[in-house]
Amino acid sequence: MNPLDDIVEAARVAFSQAPTPADLENAKAVFLGKSGQLTEMMKGLAALPIEEKKVRGAAINVAKQAVEAALTARRQAMVDAELERQLRAEALDVTLPGRRVAVGGLHPVSLTMARIEGIFGSMGFEVAQGPEIETDWFNFTALNTPEDHPARSMHDTFYVEGESGGAPMLLRTHTSPMQIRHAVQHVKTHRARLDAGQGMPEIRVIAPGRTYRVDSDATHSPMFHQCEGLWVGEAVSFKDLKVVFTDFCRTFFESDDLVLRFRPSFFPFTEPSAEVDIQFQSGPLAGRWLEVAGSGQVHPNVIRNMGLDPEQFIGFAFGMGPDRLTMLRYGVNDLRLFFDGDLRFLSQFN
Ligand code: FA5
Ligand code: MG
Repeated sequence: MNPLDDIVEAARVAFSQAPTPADLENAKAVFLGKSGQLTEMMKGLAALPIEEKKVRGAAINVAKQAVEAALTARRQAMVDAELERQLRAEALDVTLPGRRVAVGGLHPVSLTMARIEGIFGSMGFEVAQGPEIETDWFNFTALNTPEDHPARSMHDTFYVEGESGGAPMLLRTHTSPMQIRHAVQHVKTHRARLDAGQGMPEIRVIAPGRTYRVDSDATHSPMFHQCEGLWVGEAVSFKDLKVVFTDFCRTFFESDDLVLRFRPSFFPFTEPSAEVDIQFQSGPLAGRWLEVAGSGQVHPNVIRNMGLDPEQFIGFAFGMGPDRLTMLRYGVNDLRLFFDGDLRFLSQFN
């Protein structure tokens, strides 16, 4: 072979064996650089006679173009290989399952609250909200609770610093203060009709919310929920309480054969008073009685504190524990689970 063909062949081998673009550029210098083999040959032409110069020059140029073509081809191959590598690295496996969006849900006690509001709403009860920090007037005094009643002690009630108009402030121990707050507002709205002897629309309200007591065990939590109910009119009887509450429990637990027991009890703000127990007739809780609420006919002193005449107005009230209702509905045996914030527990209810 002639030496030019050898050079072209050597260049092709060198280029194809260059592992990186930098190695390729070094290999290029060996043949085409300032003192590369072909460059040196071109320099050698100067010494030749004109005719020979032409022929030899053309041959060197052909070799040079072949080397440049090999170089370009190798450069392109390297670019293609790099692109191929990148595409492979970034490849998507479209057969993989997608990532799920985590969907939040309602707390089990919130689900119970919504059920309670829905059921009482269908019976014509409004929903009222009130403050969790109360004065002892609304929480105790207006509810006919005497100064020395044990519920007012520090053992049972969380008092907070400060006062309101000289009255101590506390975290409400029940939702019953909403009986007074709501009734006073209602009476104010209908004062003119009342004064004209035209009566007023009945008070029919529930008041759900958080309540606080110095209490902690499997069925008592320092923060818990209650839902108050109040129905006051001119002819509301204890029988209405039994019908309304029985209806509520049967709807809530989706059980027509649920039996209710109104067990005589005492609350300063109702007379007579009863604790409401329910008994399941079937299922895992069959036969057991469970207390779900306190209730009774609104005491005349409380009717008076609402701004109404107890000779004309009468009614009933109840205060139930939605946390306990939630335990019963789902078969949960420790109330504190609801408030630990453990998603493994909470996410089971959605
Ligand atoms: C009362 O709080 C009265 N205000 C209820 C009432 C209202 C009576 C209107 C008459 C008229 P009691 O302390 O029993 O009553 O509480 C009522 C319900 O709240 C209980 O049946 C129970 O379901 C729930 N409860 C009471 N304490 C706790 C607690 N620490 N943790 C969870 N639930 C509680
Ligand atoms: Mg009780």
